[in-house]
Amino acid sequence: MDELNPPAAPDVNPELTIDQLDDGIQHVNNPIVGLTAIEKKYLTKIVEYSQNNNNFYFSDGVAKVEVRVVSDEIIRIRLAPHGAFLEEFSYAVPENTKRVTVFSFREDEKNYRVSTNTVTCIIDKETCLISFADNQDVIINQDQAPMHWEENSDFGGYYVYATKKASAEESFFGLGDKTANFNLRGKRLVNWNSDTYSFAKDQDPLYRSIPFYIGLSDETAYGIFFDNTFKSYFDFAHEDNGKTSFWADGGELQYYYIHGPKMMDVVKRYHSLTGTHPMPPLWALGFHQCRWSYYPESKIKDLARNFRERKIPCDAIYLDIDYMDGYRCFTWNKKYFPDPKRMVKELADDGFRTVVIIDPGIKVDDNYWVFREGKEKKYFCRRCDDYFMEGYVWPGRCQFPDFTNPEVRDWWGTLFEGLVDAGVAGVWNDMNEPAVFGSGTFPVDVRHNFDGHRGSHRKAHNVYGMQMVRATYNGLKKLYKNKRPFTITRAGYSGVQRYSSVWTGDNVASWEHLKLGSVQLQRLSVSGISFCGTDIGGFSGEPDAELFTRWIQFGVFSPFMRAHSAGDTREREPWSFGEVYEAINRKFIELRYRLLPYIYSAFWEHHKYGFPILRPVVMLEQEDKTNHYRENEFTFGDKILVAPVTEPGIQQMVVYLPKGKWYDYWTHELIEGGREITVATPLDSLPIFVKAGSVIPESPLMQYVNEFEVDEFMFQVYYSDYEVRSFYYEDHGDTFAYEQDIYMEKKFLVNGDATSMTIKQSIEGLFTPRYETYDLKIISLPFTPSRVIIDNRDYTGSLEVDDLHRIRIQASKNFRNIQILA
Ligand code: GLC
Repeated sequence: MDELNPPAAPDVNPELTIDQLDDGIQHVNNPIVGLTAIEKKYLTKIVEYSQNNNNFYFSDGVAKVEVRVVSDEIIRIRLAPHGAFLEEFSYAVPENTKRVTVFSFREDEKNYRVSTNTVTCIIDKETCLISFADNQDVIINQDQAPMHWEENSDFGGYYVYATKKASAEESFFGLGDKTANFNLRGKRLVNWNSDTYSFAKDQDPLYRSIPFYIGLSDETAYGIFFDNTFKSYFDFAHEDNGKTSFWADGGELQYYYIHGPKMMDVVKRYHSLTGTHPMPPLWALGFHQCRWSYYPESKIKDLARNFRERKIPCDAIYLDIDYMDGYRCFTWNKKYFPDPKRMVKELADDGFRTVVIIDPGIKVDDNYWVFREGKEKKYFCRRCDDYFMEGYVWPGRCQFPDFTNPEVRDWWGTLFEGLVDAGVAGVWNDMNEPAVFGSGTFPVDVRHNFDGHRGSHRKAHNVYGMQMVRATYNGLKKLYKNKRPFTITRAGYSGVQRYSSVWTGDNVASWEHLKLGSVQLQRLSVSGISFCGTDIGGFSGEPDAELFTRWIQFGVFSPFMRAHSAGDTREREPWSFGEVYEAINRKFIELRYRLLPYIYSAFWEHHKYGFPILRPVVMLEQEDKTNHYRENEFTFGDKILVAPVTEPGIQQMVVYLPKGKWYDYWTHELIEGGREITVATPLDSLPIFVKAGSVIPESPLMQYVNEFEVDEFMFQVYYSDYEVRSFYYEDHGDTFAYEQDIYMEKKFLVNGDATSMTIKQSIEGLFTPRYETYDLKIISLPFTPSRVIIDNRDYTGSLEVDDLHRIRIQASKNFRNIQILA
């Protein structure tokens, strides 16, 4: 069949709307089932158009296309094969409000054009091909074929397809936690949340579904977010070098075109649709120790004692499934943990938070209150013929709450009362793909409420885990009153970042997996999920000492830092490999704690402004084609560049530094970027570089967050001979007062020349930290300082230069201007 001239569509009523249909029916089926062979149908010549405010409709007589102006830079496209759009509903995009007032519509001989100040969506009248252009009329993205669909005779509805042109030079990024190379060109990938124990490189699909990608061609980036929860597929010039396609097994062909031109703009705008992580409690950014399974209580106590005696900082200890009574969620194994409340309190007194695991499978057991309640209230999922969805997981035969039902989510949230009362500080949501032993997951005929938009598991599968952790997060939020919950989840869909951190699941203790972990976290970060981490050390298999240490080093620069391992492996704590390694592991975990104020500030920039926390090099210099293939180095926040060591036994490695000036973190050597350099990599070091001109806040060393109150706050200030801005954020660290604007943002401006350096500070916000002074370490002045003026007054302290070429200045926390003169 000629793709651009498909046969005419059958004659049906194109004006059918949802209101005219039977109550509650949302789908319009193709009425010609059984009459002709099923084949793909394509949009054809447009015969009419209409406008309703910021929505524009184009019809080929049967099918309809909606073009919605969402914002200056975002346009949404929807397709209704038979003219009736589905009711507006999305788990990913909570508020689909109009954020633009200026837009226009124009028609010429060949096209319709819907424009904002930044983007034009061009609809070809003859073919219904859609393209997006910038305000210079340069085409950024265009259809290769008109949107198309094919009737799904097994389930009703349609397989829906979009096919775009891929330019020869185009690179592709995003899609969440895929284990493919960072640049996805040449790959075909699937989104279907899957429990993938010991997954392999290039294995697909994995635990999460993030149907969002970034295209980058001719130095210009754009994003496509295909908001469809069914099993979806992406082909990035794999089948045909000139095409990129995405399609799904059902639902609506609905996607957002997100304008760049920078990758950073695309990611920020994707966040504006799907949200960012709420601020975590500060302790959640510390080091977490986990293992399947630490029990009984004496073991936990021993673990805690070891951390404190060995002076290795740690903020959280995890309880895996064995803390429960027969793996029944919300219960305790009283043999292992006779008095949980006391134990959790004693741990808390020693600075440890307790995080517990929860699974969605509820044991079928009439003597178990959670099962009884769920059964009485009819909260468990059912099959198409009304049988309960039953499957085996840890506790044996289980039923599963329908988390897509808001009432079930509320109920689930209340179940945490006992755990919260026992003092539990965080909840780890596992097995929520959902995972079922044997069959892998639910059969697709399982029915779901889907927040009133009814559907089978085909539609709900990919959001099940996200709705579970949403229920957990919101439940904890209510129970903790004004304290911030900490949650972690394995499964998720776009927008899961509004409720939880994520980890990459059951990885393997191998060098390949350490490298994969770095790619996965960078990819998650550009896909909206900044608060992410890997199982440090690898979940299955046995790391040797070197691998474990290199993983701890990478973990320092993972937004979420947790060591975890399977129960059938040898125990591996930071001290498990002997003194030499213990010392290095300690040094790096200490580095994490020193950097906490910096990491917290990067988190705020993520939360408030939509910046990812990890930034791959291509995001910093997308115009350089070589960078499209770099996947080793990344920046952590915007000031620190890291290159994790992911190979055994290497003494040196090549690291690319983006343009500008950088300091070696360890030696303070000044290095000109925009090139590759060779860096020595002894085991007790890691390539870390700081941008010239940075002001990096540093915490005094603590064994856990808030171990003691600081009376002086430290900053490392790196000299620069051009102007550089830095940022520092402070708040209470564990309340929601920041939502009432109780926080402080500090901005620093550093500049220098051959004989002077200035540091300016501006402060905004309502939060008042308790300390009064700053301890500023000025690094690498190119001159010998003879005079320092702080807010027009001569500084009287010592200006001695230490062996790392630093001088130390103590200043009031409210200083405005510091001048250092030769
Ligand atoms: C799953 C999780 C793993 C956990 C285990 C036991 O495999 O991915 O992290 O330790 O279940 O609960």
